[in-house]
Amino acid sequence: MTQGRKTIETRTPGEGAPAPAAAEPIDLQPPRGTRDFYPEDMRRRNWLFGQFRETAARFGFEEVDAPMVENASLFTRKAGEEIVHQLYHFELHDRHLALRPEMTPSLARMVIARQGAMRFPIRWFTVTQNWRYERMTRGRRREHYQWNMDVWGEPGVEAEAELLSAIFTVLDALGLARGKVKVRLNSRALLEESLRGGVLATRPEAFAALCVVIDKLDKIGAQAVTDLLCDPAGAVQLSAGEAASVLEMLAARSLDEAARFATPGSAALADLRRLYALLDAYGIADQVPFDASVVRGLAYYTGVVFEAFDAAGSLRAIAGGGRYDRLAETLGGKPVPAVGFGFGDAVIGELLEDEGLWPALALDVQDVVFAFGEAEKPAAIAVASRLRRAGRRALLVLGTAKLKRVLGDADKAGVSQVWLIGEEERARGVVKVRDLAKKTEREEPLEG
Ligand code: HAM
Repeated sequence: MTQGRKTIETRTPGEGAPAPAAAEPIDLQPPRGTRDFYPEDMRRRNWLFGQFRETAARFGFEEVDAPMVENASLFTRKAGEEIVHQLYHFELHDRHLALRPEMTPSLARMVIARQGAMRFPIRWFTVTQNWRYERMTRGRRREHYQWNMDVWGEPGVEAEAELLSAIFTVLDALGLARGKVKVRLNSRALLEESLRGGVLATRPEAFAALCVVIDKLDKIGAQAVTDLLCDPAGAVQLSAGEAASVLEMLAARSLDEAARFATPGSAALADLRRLYALLDAYGIADQVPFDASVVRGLAYYTGVVFEAFDAAGSLRAIAGGGRYDRLAETLGGKPVPAVGFGFGDAVIGELLEDEGLWPALALDVQDVVFAFGEAEKPAAIAVASRLRRAGRRALLVLGTAKLKRVLGDADKAGVSQVWLIGEEERARGVVKVRDLAKKTEREEPLEG
């Protein structure tokens, strides 16, 4: 493991294992950049993932999954992407494996494996944990969950429009008012078309590396980007004039401005115009500003690309995606067009926190069953079992507890009924049911 500070020895117990070294204190923190999910965190996570799943289902997408550990070669592309340098990877029994940093290559692998038998287009979604050894900032971690929606087998921008609509549907469901999040959108194909007569005529493969460099513009500035683009030993090798015209194109903030740089009869521009007409039909065109500086940092994108940001601009990207029509081919499959997005859990979590939009989520228990003494325990078990069989969520109080504390906890957790069985109730064959909301009490037979 490249990040490991120590080598871990694996040996079969009993096979000459060394005596344990003097006890070193065990670091009880989770690895930096990773999270534990306590019940209160898990409630939020489940709620958020529920919104992801429900939205995807409303668009007719089906959930799939793949192993978190893949062959490292699935991810080690050579275009200089950050994501490749951030890989958690290791050798085990002569295999070079990696924790997935994203879901898209695994999806491609799954599609390729059944490509001949598939009925395209397919609409798949995933909710998965991904690993990247990142420099940490707010909302940026070394593990994060991502909700992905991807369409495979549809070359037209109708697919993009559906996906963008799904992003706004989930934002609505999370309670974010329109305008709080903007999705900036561009097309890599527009840039590629205009470079086809120049540097890309002889080296089309330089395009992915060019986009990866341009993606750094915000971080490292125009001069550093120009230096990288023109580096004679670099992957792109533009002339100074070409680099300047690329940077000029990136300044366009409307389709009309972009049209000034586009090649005559540009197919990419026509696609963008069609996409905006579709977004208008969904009622979201005004939430999706065109921004020619958005190219995305992943090498495989080929067409429309987009990134969702909080409108205040204080957080990193909430979601990002685009069209990647050549990924299947690059990985050895037959060509199949594809487009999708990834929507992280961490940045949206920060935004929901800032906006006070996390709902109050309590322990999800409807009934609490309490026996006053040991002799009443079997009757309490029978009551709890009956409630559970009837589909209710019933918590049985364990051991010995004080009634006052049981009632206080139940009240705080929003439990609706507490079932109480004392000596006297048992003798009469009844159970006392206290309704905490209505503040009433009734009796029910123990048998039944
Ligand atoms: P990505 O832009 O690398 O794209 O990630 C998508 C989203 O995942 C980001 O916008 C962000 O919300 C979240 N994310 C990524 N890295 C981190 C991190 N270190 N900590 C917290 N959140 C993070 C992809 O991964 C593409 N595979 C998306 C895609 C799917 N494109 C097509 N289909």
